[in-house]
Amino acid sequence: MPASPIRRLTPFADDAKKRGVHVYHLNIGQPDIETPPEMRDRLKAIQEKVLAYSPSNGTPGFVDALLGYYGRTGFALERDQVLATTGGSEAILFAMFAVANEGDDVLVVEPFYTNYSAFATMAGVRLVPITASAENGFHLPGREAFERALTPKTRAVLLCNPGNPTGTVYGRAELDQVARFCRDRNLFLISDEVYREFVYDGLVATSALALPGIEDLVIVVDSLSKRYSACGIRLGCLVTRNEDVYGACFRMAQGRLSPPGIAQAIAVGIGEIPASYTRNVVVEYQKRRDILYEGLGKIPGVFLRKPEGAFYFIARMPVSDSDDFARFLLADFSHEGRTVMVAPAAGFYATPGLGRNEVRIAYVLNCDDLRRSVEVLGAALDAYGTQPAAAASRSASA
Ligand SMILES: Cc1ncc(COP(=O)(O)O)c(C=O)c1O
Repeated sequence: MPASPIRRLTPFADDAKKRGVHVYHLNIGQPDIETPPEMRDRLKAIQEKVLAYSPSNGTPGFVDALLGYYGRTGFALERDQVLATTGGSEAILFAMFAVANEGDDVLVVEPFYTNYSAFATMAGVRLVPITASAENGFHLPGREAFERALTPKTRAVLLCNPGNPTGTVYGRAELDQVARFCRDRNLFLISDEVYREFVYDGLVATSALALPGIEDLVIVVDSLSKRYSACGIRLGCLVTRNEDVYGACFRMAQGRLSPPGIAQAIAVGIGEIPASYTRNVVVEYQKRRDILYEGLGKIPGVFLRKPEGAFYFIARMPVSDSDDFARFLLADFSHEGRTVMVAPAAGFYATPGLGRNEVRIAYVLNCDDLRRSVEVLGAALDAYGTQPAAAASRSASA
């Protein structure tokens, strides 16, 4: 199993905190936004005397709430097309197990959400990367790149839209291209849409559920974690209009018994959350994105295209080894008692050597903290650039 590149540097962050250094966490997608009261109030109201198992596909109340959400999003789905899961994470795992046998291939556009590697390892699946370029804002490469990556063992394409770690929102034409490829090659399209609402500058994220001609090939991965700032609730769902896929995933769901019951009792509240909640959250994230985009753009040698969605982006840094730089930030540097934690980007690529001069940044802190983080990062790059000997010795001892 690969170690999580997002969490790997945590011991260095813990040491920095012990030394009294304040660490701004730009490395992990844990939002600081409040979970809506429509969910929190239900938590307080829980009176059950027995915390029981629930149905494997989700409680009727939670499935209804999910169907209601999809209805409002423009998709009329049936009960046996939406399966409640323990986070989007379990939905990804179920999807991989459902579409591929051990030794099969799944195409994925890199850089990608790093935990896909972990899930692929668990499922015995090989992730075959198709590389997107920073210059192009990490938008989808042309069909030739998909054709080149195809093998006799390819079973699916795995996309994340809006994208973690890139912040890219694929346009309709790009998605149509993938849909045609999947239809022509009879491949499943696993579409991770856990950031569906997080799109900026008036953009709209197109769900794979809206793509015509591949209805039975689409598997959508969804989650309550980010949409309702409720990562700890551990609930999500898998959506498919393919009966066989639903059946296979349902049997996997029976094997793991049920998603968390208390969580579902809380989650039925999602139907009561006003649309203004999401609108306000999106406005806040857009503000944060702008602060980082403008701030980082002023630091010499830093390169990024303007992120369009989610709350992450990949930035190229004027360093040759972002792993070493991330460790330097935590172990050897502070600016007025503060430092930042970033995720080195190599772990978001399957192709060895890529991402070595990039970091992933998450903007889940308030605007003031983000402004200070930019200042710290600028000072850190200045300091790092003048310490080549120290960097070399750190690399040697790592
Ligand atoms: C792209 C993507 N998919 C899935 C997940 C997993 O979410 P969950 O908390 O629902 O398991 C995450 C979490 O960060 C994510 O970024």
